[in-house]
Amino acid sequence: MVSRVIPVDPFDLVIFGGTGDLARRKVLPALFRRFCAGQMQQASRIIGAARTDMDETAYRRVVSEAIHEFSPSTACEDGTLEQFLQCIHYVTVDAMGEQGWAELTEKVTSVDRVEAYYFSVAPSLFGPLAERLQGHGLADRRARIVVEKPFGRDLATARELNGTLARYFDEGQIYRIDHYLGKETVQNLMAVRFGNMLFEPLWNSQFVDHIQITVAETVGVGGRGEYYDRAGAMRDMVQNHLMQLLCLIAMEPPSRFDPDAVRDEKLKVIRALEPVEPHHIARGQYEADPDDPETHPDYRTAVDNPRSKTESFVALKTHIANWRWAGTPFYLRTGKRMRQRSSEISIVFKETPHSIFGEEAGRHRNVLSIRLQPNEGITLGVTIKEPGPGGMRLIDVPLDMTFADALGADGGESVDAYERLIMDVIRGNQTLFMRGDEVEAAWAWTDPIIEGWQNRGEVPKPYASLGSGPDDANNLMRRDHREWRKI
Ligand code: BG6
Repeated sequence: MVSRVIPVDPFDLVIFGGTGDLARRKVLPALFRRFCAGQMQQASRIIGAARTDMDETAYRRVVSEAIHEFSPSTACEDGTLEQFLQCIHYVTVDAMGEQGWAELTEKVTSVDRVEAYYFSVAPSLFGPLAERLQGHGLADRRARIVVEKPFGRDLATARELNGTLARYFDEGQIYRIDHYLGKETVQNLMAVRFGNMLFEPLWNSQFVDHIQITVAETVGVGGRGEYYDRAGAMRDMVQNHLMQLLCLIAMEPPSRFDPDAVRDEKLKVIRALEPVEPHHIARGQYEADPDDPETHPDYRTAVDNPRSKTESFVALKTHIANWRWAGTPFYLRTGKRMRQRSSEISIVFKETPHSIFGEEAGRHRNVLSIRLQPNEGITLGVTIKEPGPGGMRLIDVPLDMTFADALGADGGESVDAYERLIMDVIRGNQTLFMRGDEVEAAWAWTDPIIEGWQNRGEVPKPYASLGSGPDDANNLMRRDHREWRKI
């Protein structure tokens, strides 16, 4: 299936932290792939900006190496990388001082076009960068800034950050990235819900027993121990990625697919979330891999903090206090070093009110599962008669649609979340970015949960490496006579 690529007008993208990990791993390879696809035009400029003193040739080498390392299989014609490298520029800039700003200003003001500034730097530099951009006259209508998570570490810091950015930029110029919103299947959630008549009438507490959202990873904290131990699964994953998934599942249909209509509805969901009771949460820390503890040590060793109380796994139950969802629990679960990499949302429908086949036929529930990764697709569990003689025995079979199978060998061309999101920045479409009030509302719900753990001095329970999380998580479900979907 060949998708139509509409080129975007030539733009300038300045990457602060242009030599850093995120730029090399995600941003530059994403731009290269859009270049190969013909969406980014040759006249566009990518300007690396960092404190490291280097010239353009040296930076082009950095970019070329990053692409070979992180996008090795990109199908591109011969010579395309060379052409792409012609778009690459570099300015040595000090975010905290004046060095390099005159040169950068001259460069970007020499042409009239969209200017995007990607803050691929520590959050402590967001404020100073925004201030300098404005001080040098670069915060005008053509400018937009892109900021990455973590967006604050609690409500107070997020508010402060929003306040700082708002001093120099309008909300319409601020693009807060949650890369989950750029994933193909996450957008498909909206298509499935609002593009089909089939599901929406059933999408409420009258028909839905409960909803599960799982984001399980097999990786551990890797080299990010220092950051992760200050964050934990709640801040790293739940406050943003899982919260966004929950919003898309639970929100009312927006009147239009436009940025504020969608974000208004998401915000209403977050604001309607009920506080989480302490006994409705399970936390865990992964143990070492018994077969290879050197490569995969336990969580505390991995973060080099023998007394760490930070969770690498969290499961919780919450409710949304509105007419649509009152009484339907939402179970959220995420963890590192789990059995499988699997992100899945399951809508578990209620049992039929009465079984005409008698109790021996069993009672069954339809489950609609939306797999975000891997093997993106949708499965609907349907109850049918078990084939053969012997009476009316019922079994559940999956109606399975893996998008890759349904849409052709390449699943309709896989576009990385960053490719889509960066192009949206250039096009000026904020639908898939978090608005400031959304982020604050998410922290307002998250903060009391984290404070509760701290006040009670709670320590996460150990769980087996490559398992399914601590027993407490299973008990959370068992108490409600339910069970987690298998991962
Ligand atoms: C990031 C988290 O935002 O998302 C990481 O900081 C996590 O800890 C990652 O591993 C997961 O993203 P993906 O796209 O691999 O599911």
